[in-house]
Amino acid sequence: MCGIVGYIGEQQAVDVVLEGLRRLEYRGYDSAGISTLNNGQIDTQRAKGKLSNLEQQLKTSPLLGTLGIGHTRWATHGKPSKANAHPHRSGGFVVVHNGIIENYLQLKQQLVECGHHFNSETDSEIIAHLIDYHFKKSQDFEQAVRTAVQQLRGAFAIAVISDQHPDQLIAAKAGSPLVIGQGQSEYFVASDIPAMLSHTRDMVFLNDGEMALFNRTAMQITTLEGAAVETKIKTITWNPTMAEKGGYRHFMLKEIHEQPRAIADTIAGRITENKNAILLNELNLNADELNGFDRLYIVACGTSWHAALVGKFLIEKHARIPVEVDIASEFRYRQPLVSDKTLTLVISQSGETADTLAALREAHERGGKVVAICNVVESSIARESEGVIYTHAGPEIGVASTKAFTTQLVALFLFALHLGQTRQTLTTIKAQQLINELLTLPRKLEETLELDAIIEQAARKFIHVHDFLYLGRGNQYPIALEGALKLKEISYIHAEGYPAGEMKHGPIALIDEELPVVVIAPVNKTHEKVISNMEEVRARGGQIISISDSNCPSLLAASNVAFHIPTICDDLMPIITSIPLQLLSYHIAVFKGTDVDQPRNLAKSVTVE
Ligand code: AGP
Repeated sequence: MCGIVGYIGEQQAVDVVLEGLRRLEYRGYDSAGISTLNNGQIDTQRAKGKLSNLEQQLKTSPLLGTLGIGHTRWATHGKPSKANAHPHRSGGFVVVHNGIIENYLQLKQQLVECGHHFNSETDSEIIAHLIDYHFKKSQDFEQAVRTAVQQLRGAFAIAVISDQHPDQLIAAKAGSPLVIGQGQSEYFVASDIPAMLSHTRDMVFLNDGEMALFNRTAMQITTLEGAAVETKIKTITWNPTMAEKGGYRHFMLKEIHEQPRAIADTIAGRITENKNAILLNELNLNADELNGFDRLYIVACGTSWHAALVGKFLIEKHARIPVEVDIASEFRYRQPLVSDKTLTLVISQSGETADTLAALREAHERGGKVVAICNVVESSIARESEGVIYTHAGPEIGVASTKAFTTQLVALFLFALHLGQTRQTLTTIKAQQLINELLTLPRKLEETLELDAIIEQAARKFIHVHDFLYLGRGNQYPIALEGALKLKEISYIHAEGYPAGEMKHGPIALIDEELPVVVIAPVNKTHEKVISNMEEVRARGGQIISISDSNCPSLLAASNVAFHIPTICDDLMPIITSIPLQLLSYHIAVFKGTDVDQPRNLAKSVTVE
C-alpha cells in the first residue's frame, strides 16, 4: 500500500506533490511527508495522521524547490508516527517507498555494523542507507541506487533524490505499481494515474525490474541491471474531473451516483449492432480456446470476490461450465487443479492487489490461461493476463468499492453471455433478450438512485445499532455479503451476510428486537421462500428492511422499512439491489460521523500479502 509521488520540472514541487498525494490518500493515510531540494539542500516535512496535518505544518514551514518527492503511508512495519513517516534519509539521499522489503532486518544488521544509525522502525529506511552506503564507494548516484535495489527482496516502488544531484530524480519498481507522467520540461512519478491527471495524460507504465532516471528535459528507462528499455508512452483517456468530488460530500457518494454512467461506459462498444451478441475481442482467446476449457476458476479478494460469486451463477447458467470461486489469498496455498484446460478469471478493481496477483501467477505456473476483469489500465494484473475486460468505472477513490463492483458484475454478465454463445449453450434469441434487458440497466439504476433521500431518512434509526444481518438467496446471497462488508467498512458496525435459507440453521439465534435484518427479496423463483424467512425474523421481534421489486402485501406486512426497486431480469438484479445497500451503509456512516472515504485501518489498494 502507501502512495508515492515524485516531481522534477519548473513548478514548485511541493504543490505538485501535495496535490498528487491528495489523490493517492486512498492508498493509506497513517502519516505523510514531503522532501524538496532547494539550493543544494533537501528539506523534509513529515506529519502523523492524514495529509491535512502535513498541509497545516507546511503553512508554517514551507518547502521550496522544483524537485521533490512525497509519501502517504499505510503502516506495515512500525506504528503510524512521525518517525516512521517517509521520506527517509541517510546522508544526502532521501527516499520514498511503497511495498515491503522482506530482507530488511538482515540488511539493517549489516549496515548497523558499518556504523549506520536508523531513526525509524520501518523496512523502508534501509533503502536510503543502502544507497548512501554504495554511493560512498562509487560516488555515482545512479550506480548506487542500482546496486542498492538489486539487494532488495520483496516489493518496492521507490523515488529517490540526492542533495548532490539537484537535477536528478530516480525511480525504480519491482512488485509495486509505479507510473511516470511526461509533461513539457517536467516529469512526474506516482503510484497511480490520478496523482498526475491534472498535469498530463501521457504516461509510461514501468515494468517490474525497471528503473527510470530523469532530469527536467529527458528520461531514460533501464532494467535494474542497466540494460536500455524502450520508452512506450500511452495517452490515458481518464480526465482530471473524473478524480474530483464534483459537488458531492464524499467520493463514495459521487461514485454511487456515477453508476449509471459507469455501467453504460462498460457496456459501450461491446454489443453487436443488431444487439444479439457480445464483442469481447480483448479476451484474446479464440472460439477454439474458449470451447476447449473444461473448468473455470474465478479468483479475487473482498468486494471483487463477491462479484466473483455472482459470476459463478452467470457463467454456469449460460455457458454450462463448472466454475469454482476462490479467495485469492487461499488459492495459491491449496494446490488448485489448474491445467491447460483451465481458465482462471481474476477480478480486481486496482489490478494491484498482491493476493490476486500471486493467484494469477500461480495459475500461470500451473499452465493455465488467465483473463482479468480490471478497472485500472496497465495495472500489474492487467499486464500479466492474457486478456483483460476493462470495467470503465473511471477512478474509484472512496476506499469502499461501489461503482467498481457493479461494473465488475456487468463485465461478468458480458463474459458469461459471450462464453455461452461461443460454446453454443446460449441461443441467439435468449442472448438478444438478455442484451435488451442489459440496455435498460443504466436507466433503472437512475430510478433506483432516487431512493437516496428515503434511505437517508431510514438510516438515521440505525446509528446506535451494534449488529446487522443481511439475507439473500441465490445470486442475492453474494449481495448480502457485499452489503454487510460495506456497512462494516465504513460505519464500523458488525454485520454478517447469510443465505436466507441457512438462517434457521444457526443465525436465527441472534434475532431479537435490537437486530436489524436487511432482506434482499426480488421477485424470482425463491421470492416466497424469502418472505417465509422474513416471517421467521418478524416472529422473533427482528426489524426488517426489505429491498424488492414486489409490492405484494405479505412482503410489505413483514417489512418495517421497504425499499422498492425497479424490475429487471434475475441475472441483472444483483446490480440493482446493490444500490440501496450502498446508500444505506453510506448514510449510516455519515450519521455516525465516521470517515467515509478513508475508513480506519483500510487502504484502497492492498499490495501486501
Ligand atoms: C472494497 O470495499 C474493499 N475496500 C476491498 O474489499 C477490495 O474490494 C479488495 O481489497 C480487493 O481490491 P481489488 O478489487 O482492487 O483487487
